[in-house]
Amino acid sequence: MKMLNLPTGHAAQYRRWAEALFALLTPKPLDADDQVVTTTLSTQEIRSRWNDLAEANAFLRNIVEERQANPTNDLISAMLQARDNDGHRIEPGAVVRHALSLIAAGFDTTATLIAHVVLLLSRNPDQLAALEADFSLTGNAIEEGLRRRGSTTTLFRITTEDVVVRDQPIARGSMICLLLPGANLDAEVFPDPDKFDIRRANANRHLGLGRGRHACVGQPLVRIEAPIGCASSMSACPACASTSVNRWNMCRASAYPTSRASARKWELPVQAASARPLDNAG
Ligand code: HEM
Repeated sequence: MKMLNLPTGHAAQYRRWAEALFALLTPKPLDADDQVVTTTLSTQEIRSRWNDLAEANAFLRNIVEERQANPTNDLISAMLQARDNDGHRIEPGAVVRHALSLIAAGFDTTATLIAHVVLLLSRNPDQLAALEADFSLTGNAIEEGLRRRGSTTTLFRITTEDVVVRDQPIARGSMICLLLPGANLDAEVFPDPDKFDIRRANANRHLGLGRGRHACVGQPLVRIEAPIGCASSMSACPACASTSVNRWNMCRASAYPTSRASARKWELPVQAASARPLDNAG
């Protein structure tokens, strides 16, 4: 929020917008004949999520207009002032969309990753003990968390030419969905891939933060924030490290632990009671 110079008092709103964006973007299963994309959201939920995004759009449009008139030292002003070699600017509408993407990308993903790593540690007491014995392993534990249970699981691409992948022809112009866990659990790269091993030498070869031209621009921030977030969650909430965490529900949208008693005690963020349990977490 500081990078965008957005008012800090609206955190709940930013989170709701981020959740709306992810809820609408999450890939939906095809129907039995692979013809129609179905959704698990009700019509009312879809409408409500779109209303959230309309609210975000209006809020950010006002901010962008304000920064056009009075630039400050922030990313929104920088995007508005940027020009390419031919003098072209980024349209204000695109700046609004980039700002919303940054809110969503920066908000939910890191929080979810922290929750995942805490969960993985709690379910693997030997790894937790290893970390407690040597905190210099924290960075690698985060990499292993990104590999074993990253918060981004799907990426989309449109093919620019006909390609064949593992004997499967894919025509130019096809939209393909890349499933990151498929690569991150590749036994040829990561021996014993299911194992959460914070000492894994090549843990950082995961694709949890993308690769290449569109790799995550927030990755340096993730690698600073996530270790701090994990360490403070574990020290503020020793129960995280006990097996009691296995009784907690995980919310699909944000994957926060939702034990109401623990949350009250330790002031962890809590999701609504309607949160559905995650299967096979970790
Ligand atoms: C654990 C946290 C995060 C995860 C797992 C994550 C994951 C990813 C992944 C997989 C991509 C590649 C998308 C693609 O190739 O299509 C990506 C791109 C991106 N990420 Fe993150 N991200 C995280 C945190 C952040 C943060 C904190 C920010 C900003 C403050 C951020 C901003 C972005 C942006 C702007 C892109 C698009 C880059 C481009 O298209 O050139 N991300 N992220």
